[in-house]
Amino acid sequence: MPTCEGIVAVLGANGGTGREAVARLQHYGIKVRAIARSEAKLKEVAGPGVETAVADVRDPAGLENALRGVRAVINCVGTRVGFANTGKGLADFFGFGEDGADAVDNRGTVNVLEAMKRVGAEHIVIVTSMLINQPLNPFSLMMKPFGDILTMKDKAEKAVRTSGLRYTIVRPGGLTNQPPLQKGIRVAPADALSSGSIPRADVAEVCVQALWTDTAYGRTLEIVSDDTPPVSDWRAFFASVPPDAVAVQSAVASSVS
Ligand SMILES: NC(=O)c1ccc[n+]([C@@H]2O[C@H](COP(=O)([O-])OP(=O)(O)OC[C@H]3O[C@@H](n4cnc5c(N)ncnc54)[C@H](OP(=O)(O)O)[C@@H]3O)[C@@H](O)[C@H]2O)c1
Repeated sequence: MPTCEGIVAVLGANGGTGREAVARLQHYGIKVRAIARSEAKLKEVAGPGVETAVADVRDPAGLENALRGVRAVINCVGTRVGFANTGKGLADFFGFGEDGADAVDNRGTVNVLEAMKRVGAEHIVIVTSMLINQPLNPFSLMMKPFGDILTMKDKAEKAVRTSGLRYTIVRPGGLTNQPPLQKGIRVAPADALSSGSIPRADVAEVCVQALWTDTAYGRTLEIVSDDTPPVSDWRAFFASVPPDAVAVQSAVASSVS
């Protein structure tokens, strides 16, 4: 059975993908800490054997407390825009408010990386999105007025790549709530895919496998479901995508220093 040492924290643990990540970690017997931004939301996900902590990614001190003792983080946080964020005013409806994409997806990710370094956590797997760096795609154009969310996720990715932490960036297509591991997963390098969908549970499985599969490290991968059989060789799955240029450079730098 694959495994990894230490506690793995899931940020956004009460969200769709976050819940699935907690479930997949439990399936593999990994110690998991579910982190959400309110006690009430944690009650929805806390189950036997799941540690919990409260933190908002906009609050560096709260993050540091919540991440203490953690070895790795799966970050499934994402701002909600449009009708998914109603009741908070126009700025948040359009994703530009205090709870918007810059505050949560961009600066929130930087807060996570900095808090991880302060507590000695060494490994992050982050869920971002397909279509980052495809500004002329019709869906990208449609999302632009909503907090410029894909640009904010792009900034977050750049911060992850240059953080010095071990990382994998997972860019899914449109998310569905289908059951896990029913279909195959098409994996491609950054900016290669522009259509397709994938169950949140499969995204969670990819994130969890990335924790202990060394061919996942220092890579940005795009994923959608396809009609091949479910993935059985995770090393080959991740290795089919080349490492990020910045990750190769820092590996070379550390080998000569
Ligand atoms: N929906 C799609 O089709 C799609 C496609 C590609 C990529 N993505 C990305 O994939 C990721 C997962 O998507 P999903 O649909 O599973 O997400 P989701 O269900 O919307 O969950 C998002 C999570 O982020 C949390 N969050 C938001 N702001 C936060 C903050 N300031 N501090 C801490 N937590 C915060 C939410 O907590 P609260 O419940 O407290 O708000 C929630 O748990 C997101 O980054 C999303 O942008 C989505």
